[in-house]
Amino acid sequence: MIKVAIWGYGTVGSGVFEVLRKNSAVIENKLGDTIEVKYVLDLRDFEDDPVKEVLVHDVEEILSDPEVAVICETMGGENPAYTFTKRALESGKSVCTSNKELVEKHGPELLQIAKAHNCSYLFEASVGGGIPIIRPLRTSLAQEEIQSITGILNGTTNYILTKMETEGLAFESVLKRAQEKGYAEKNPDADILGFDACRKIAILTSLAYGKNVNYTDILTEGITAITNKDFAYARKLGATIKLFAKSVKKGEKYYALVAPFLVKPENPLYAVNGVYNAILVNGNMGGETMYYGKGAGKLATASAVVSDVLDCARHFGKHLNVKWDEEKLEISPIDGAVRKFFVRASTTDMAQVEAVFGEVELITGVADNECGFVTAEMTEAEYREKAAKMGNIIGMIRVD
Ligand code: HSE
Repeated sequence: MIKVAIWGYGTVGSGVFEVLRKNSAVIENKLGDTIEVKYVLDLRDFEDDPVKEVLVHDVEEILSDPEVAVICETMGGENPAYTFTKRALESGKSVCTSNKELVEKHGPELLQIAKAHNCSYLFEASVGGGIPIIRPLRTSLAQEEIQSITGILNGTTNYILTKMETEGLAFESVLKRAQEKGYAEKNPDADILGFDACRKIAILTSLAYGKNVNYTDILTEGITAITNKDFAYARKLGATIKLFAKSVKKGEKYYALVAPFLVKPENPLYAVNGVYNAILVNGNMGGETMYYGKGAGKLATASAVVSDVLDCARHFGKHLNVKWDEEKLEISPIDGAVRKFFVRASTTDMAQVEAVFGEVELITGVADNECGFVTAEMTEAEYREKAAKMGNIIGMIRVD
């Protein structure tokens, strides 16, 4: 029997408790062993909940118990999760977490500590909720040189964009609905400004190349400037708008960004709607593989945490290696990235547009007193220079 503790009885922690209880027979069948929750740590009391039998308020009780082999860290936030995690790993207890903030900030250091103490630090639930993506990158795709990762990595923004498109609703009203449904972070700015997706692509890119990507090096644009008019233009092109988190390897250079993209139906990510997430990975040998599922929510995220617990149990007494060094992965300035741009400008003077941008694909019949067009391929730096020359740009969305 493997004894575990859960730190934090919030949405994900209570989900982990539920998955381990409800699926105990399934788990025993697959693992050939049982998993028992010996403790749940939370400052609060839960009178009418079966958790009260194992609830403790003091982390020392868990850290000092040699029977506890695995911790599920579902507290979230940097502190005290960081200190607690370090101490658990130093005492040889493996930690499985959903805490993307901690993973993004301290992943390499915590992995080193786990290695030094012959235990594991696993974080399948930190990116893409219930979607298996960390394990595929670490194992199934370890032989591939990853050429690109493109993800819809934030359920809240994908839900908002989907509702704006399908129901013609305004941004603010859909955001309110997303919050009511519990998809959004406590501070929804992290979702709508793109920072949540940015942390997630930083983690995936670090794992793809084994070096550390600092999320502050990633150009990040959210969805707050997207309007229903943008969707009207997109529809004319047979496209939709998605918030992509992307990293690309071009020769020896690495580019990364989070931004809304105009996406055509040929792209498999076009059909990923609502709170669902998906990640498209392009390897240099096997080509494209895609991972799809619920990117947020109690049981989906909890299921991913439990998948890590099972991995620890299967490799009991061993360190599971995750290659992610402290050494920095240099992200090149986005200026050199080449693509097409969808542009809206407050002019109907196409001669001016073509004088600056050259030949463009014009989109007509959406609005008076403005024009919409798609440029030829150019670098981000060239686009910026031309946009400044025009001086009357209403908005720009990159074209995938
Ligand atoms: N707020 C996040 C999302 C939750 O909407 O995807 C999962 O990280």
